[in-house]
Amino acid sequence: MKIAILTSGGDAPGMNAAIRSVTRCALTKGMTVYGIQRGFAGLLDGEFHELTFNSVSDKLQRGGTFLQTARCAEFRTIEGQKRGAQMLKTFGIDYLVVIGGDGSLTGGLSVSKLGIPVMGIPGTIDNDLGYTDFTIGFDTAVNTVLDCISKIRDTSSSHERTTIIEVMGRHCGDIALYAGMAGGAEAVLIPEIDYDINDICQRIILGRNRGKVHNVLIKAEGTEMKSDELAALIEERTGVEARAVILAYLQRGGSPTARDRMLATRCGEKAVQLIEQGSDSRAIGCAGNEIIHYPLEEALQMKREFNKDLYDLAVILS
Ligand code: F6P
Repeated sequence: MKIAILTSGGDAPGMNAAIRSVTRCALTKGMTVYGIQRGFAGLLDGEFHELTFNSVSDKLQRGGTFLQTARCAEFRTIEGQKRGAQMLKTFGIDYLVVIGGDGSLTGGLSVSKLGIPVMGIPGTIDNDLGYTDFTIGFDTAVNTVLDCISKIRDTSSSHERTTIIEVMGRHCGDIALYAGMAGGAEAVLIPEIDYDINDICQRIILGRNRGKVHNVLIKAEGTEMKSDELAALIEERTGVEARAVILAYLQRGGSPTARDRMLATRCGEKAVQLIEQGSDSRAIGCAGNEIIHYPLEEALQMKREFNKDLYDLAVILS
């Protein structure tokens, strides 16, 4: 049995842990394992190299992905997908393991429709996949944001400022929501819920009247209005000095947390078990503390349910 692994889309801490787990579990079962460099772009260019037990040593604790990653426009075309599938056939690959987010697993689905079964492992900091409670990298990103909140709170207090911290997450506000709650943010702005600028300004003014010396607002990148424009508007309407900080790619780096390493390791093991059983294409994830899997196509159609209760709690506590 020959398998290939690639990482695709935005990198996420824990991707290396997933590659390591797939590689070592597969080698233990006597499979041959190829790493494909630079995601689907590398697949099209035939960037295959064989992985051994040693190739994945000293990787578990590292952020990023040693297989590197890319966003590949050509692979969104049917011609590109056919070329990719042919490349896998040329190397005699029986299964492809794709580690990435929604777009990457969708790329995997196209490969599976062309005759090579695919195991999808959810690697994205966004936590925006409908079929799994958590994605690999999310927990590390939230902890990175928490660390930044503490640091920004120090300087915000010294200067009696309001600071808007913009976090990643495109269409999904989970990084903002979890980091905002765990970090005691004064407001959490996420794409799933419309926010009222007057309400925010009112809260800042009332807080100042009560003697509050700082405000930290967490804003997901997918929400309306640019962060610096929002800061300017808040300053104009409240008279409280306001600044915006965009954390951007900082959130994608760093050593994965224990939680992300465990999720990645267990998903990797499950991928190999399914391959050994001759399974059809599957998306692997978690529900509670269990590792689960769904047919790949079905998983990608599952809509993410927004946790409104958690949001309401964040509002109560802010
Ligand atoms: O999907 C992960 C993510 O980090 C998003 O949160 C963000 O919007 C996007 O990737 C940024 O993409 P790029 O790396 O292409 O700039």
